[in-house]
Amino acid sequence: MIEIIKKKRNGVELSKEDFRFMIDGFVAGEIPDYQISAFLMAVYFKGMTENETAILTDVMMRSGDLIDLSEIEGIKVDKHSTGGVGDKTTLILAPLVAAAGVPVAKMSGRGLGHTGGTLDKLESIKGFSVDMSKEAFIENVKKYNIAVCGQNDNLVPADKKIYALRDVTGTVDNISLISSSIMSKKLACGADAIVVDIKVGEGAYMKTQEEAEDLAKMIIGIGSKMKRKVIAVISAMHEPLGLAVGNALEVKEAIDTLKGNGPADLNDLCLQLGGHLLVLGKVAKNQVEGTKKLEKLITSGAAFEKFKEMIKAQGGDLNVIDQPDLLPKTEFAQVFKSKKEGFISELNALDIGMASMKLGAGRATKDSKIDHGAGILLRKKIGDFVKKDEILATMFSNNQDGFEKAERLIDAAFKISKTKPRKNTLILKTIE
Ligand code: URA
Repeated sequence: MIEIIKKKRNGVELSKEDFRFMIDGFVAGEIPDYQISAFLMAVYFKGMTENETAILTDVMMRSGDLIDLSEIEGIKVDKHSTGGVGDKTTLILAPLVAAAGVPVAKMSGRGLGHTGGTLDKLESIKGFSVDMSKEAFIENVKKYNIAVCGQNDNLVPADKKIYALRDVTGTVDNISLISSSIMSKKLACGADAIVVDIKVGEGAYMKTQEEAEDLAKMIIGIGSKMKRKVIAVISAMHEPLGLAVGNALEVKEAIDTLKGNGPADLNDLCLQLGGHLLVLGKVAKNQVEGTKKLEKLITSGAAFEKFKEMIKAQGGDLNVIDQPDLLPKTEFAQVFKSKKEGFISELNALDIGMASMKLGAGRATKDSKIDHGAGILLRKKIGDFVKKDEILATMFSNNQDGFEKAERLIDAAFKISKTKPRKNTLILKTIE
């Protein structure tokens, strides 16, 4: 291991044997954390080539269970978001694409810090289970074209161990380490084709478009080396996506969107990402045709029916879907009003995500409990005009102590100016 650390420290390209020795030894507990930490820091400074990153991804992917979806007919698609605030696209996109005839076998994660997780959102629906055996997962995709479940404990154990070290050694933000972390999990889940939504902005891992493009190219390169088709969409995360931030609030917004009444940015992103998935699934010739098909599935009610089918198949209470008022609520609510008049020129996604966490909607650490009803409902977004004392946001919590901290963060998140700002473009670039 010392030789491998020195090689990387000196900028030498590592071999497949090096990666195998290191990852297998680390997962088996034979290589200590401090040597892997030194290796990660060497990667941070010296980088890795696309070839090295693809090899690392492959070795990590094989460190645990591999999901074999080959008994499901058709091209199985998956979608990944690098994480944002108010990002409930999976709840909308998965049933939408499944309703178009493309099988969606989706394994999702939980939220951490200022970003939410699909599993937590779905668990705000009474009875809904995200724990499924591999067999039940495959059976549901065969029957309904859709299943969304939690990643099993033995999915890429190498990533769990490496990520825990990256988190405490200042080595999270490296393109090769992020790419191998994301792609090892995606590839282990067995889909044939994947759309990756790379978020860029305050509330995201990637702070600039340039970094996001580098990540996109690396991810696509790994996909092509592993014979999977990958499309990367770079989308803005300067402000939260949609108006709802917090688990049950986001489920309600997802239901509204599936019924054709969602906020424009969320609806647009789902249609754009979905259009690509239909092309990958070979049910549309191009993205524009795919997007049009999906619009029709929303109008006809087929997408909402598919969502209900998935909820029922996984034990969820359909009364909650038909009457979203039955979703978890909090004991307390408090409004946040504007201190002045003008146009919203900034709405910092990171601050809003942190405020939502303080209200109980997110996890400060992996073991924190979350409050499904808590969160923030925004009333204004960038470009909107606000009068003095008009409501900018409503906060929901079961713990009144959180309001003060959340209020400070919301206050910092909103910037108000005299002139109307230019509207941010939501989709910045697509790389195939
Ligand atoms: N998401 C992941 O799964 N891994 C990373 O390293 C960053 C984002």
